Amino acid sequence: MTDKAETAQEQIRGEITAARRELGIPEMRGVEEYVRDECAVLRREADAHGSAVPEIAYEDVARGTVSAASVARIRRRGCVVVRGVYERALAEEWNSEIARYIEDNDYQGKSLSRRGMDKYFSDLAADAPQIYALYWSRPQVMARQGGRMAVLKRFLNGLWDAAGEFDGAEDYTYADRLRRRRAGDDTLGLSPHIDGGSYERWTDAAFREIYAPVFEGRWADYDPWCARRRTAVENFPSPAVCSMFRSFQGWVALSGQGVGDGTLQMVPVANGIVYLLLRALQGDVGEGELCGAEPGRALGVLPEWHGDLLEGLVTVPWMDPGDGVWWHPDLVHGVESRHGGSESSNVIYVGVSPRCEKNRLYGERQARAFLEGRSPPDFASEDYEVDFAGRALESDLSDLGRAQMTLDNN
Ligand SMILES: [Fe+2]
Repeated sequence: MTDKAETAQEQIRGEITAARRELGIPEMRGVEEYVRDECAVLRREADAHGSAVPEIAYEDVARGTVSAASVARIRRRGCVVVRGVYERALAEEWNSEIARYIEDNDYQGKSLSRRGMDKYFSDLAADAPQIYALYWSRPQVMARQGGRMAVLKRFLNGLWDAAGEFDGAEDYTYADRLRRRRAGDDTLGLSPHIDGGSYERWTDAAFREIYAPVFEGRWADYDPWCARRRTAVENFPSPAVCSMFRSFQGWVALSGQGVGDGTLQMVPVANGIVYLLLRALQGDVGEGELCGAEPGRALGVLPEWHGDLLEGLVTVPWMDPGDGVWWHPDLVHGVESRHGGSESSNVIYVGVSPRCEKNRLYGERQARAFLEGRSPPDFASEDYEVDFAGRALESDLSDLGRAQMTLDNN
């Protein structure tokens, strides 16, 4: 470690120590029981119905006929599977087009020489997932700017109390990568984690306001769906930490995938973050530490600290091409460590990033990267697509796509 890195590390330890001194050791007994009960309930749901993740049909979203009971379940579970966001045939066509895009432009060959630039997940138990640093293939841009996606994003934003933080009717697009996981792979995966902030959740002023009821010993008053101060949080600068406020993370399946196919796992407890926040402040955690939270990394959810919560880890149900899944930005999730299926499990990540000043500012920087085919500003500047044939261009944007890319006023 260089002197500079050591100083930075010391400074962070100091920040953590100061935060812990201020926050004290809040009581967490009721939280442990709550999490254990929720995990037991959702395991029973998974056993009885094959899945604990709420499911709705896209057509119900479009018609405005999603039931109040479904909405309540989505809010409690913090996630939702949406059937038929895009037609199966279209998703399959996109899957083939991406395969050609990768092949024709020799992504594999080029990435070998640039590997290791993205260190975000490297401390998780199983790192190096089969996630492609590609952002601008035509299918990705089409999936993000689709009118059906806009309708769905509006619905998902409506699950929040925006509290003046954002306009959920519109969004600025967030360009993310691709997962294409080969069948039989048993070395790669993503251990359970939360994106969008690690130690900052305890030290940053805005995060501290968001979680105030938790830190003040009133955790039952905490509402994960209240957006107040959510767009004001400041993350430790790091490659691959999202600079936009995402009301949901999510993806659209391009190939069929279910339990055992190396796909998404979640702990579908919207309030699970409460457990993580309080656990790190207990007396058995060393000074200057927060149960392994490290700056610039995903917040790892670990068996040695968070066993109660991990009891609720379940895999998403079978997804057909064109189905999608979305989850709250504080929800624990990961990717199965083994892909025991027979087909590649492929997805396009499509987050929900509503209109707000924070997202507009990033959107403008991202638009410049798009026009040149470079990696978006949040990601390692591998810039594979600069000279890729078949990349989406400005002329591929719809009017909606232009607006989402902040290009409508230029
Ligand atoms: Fe993640």
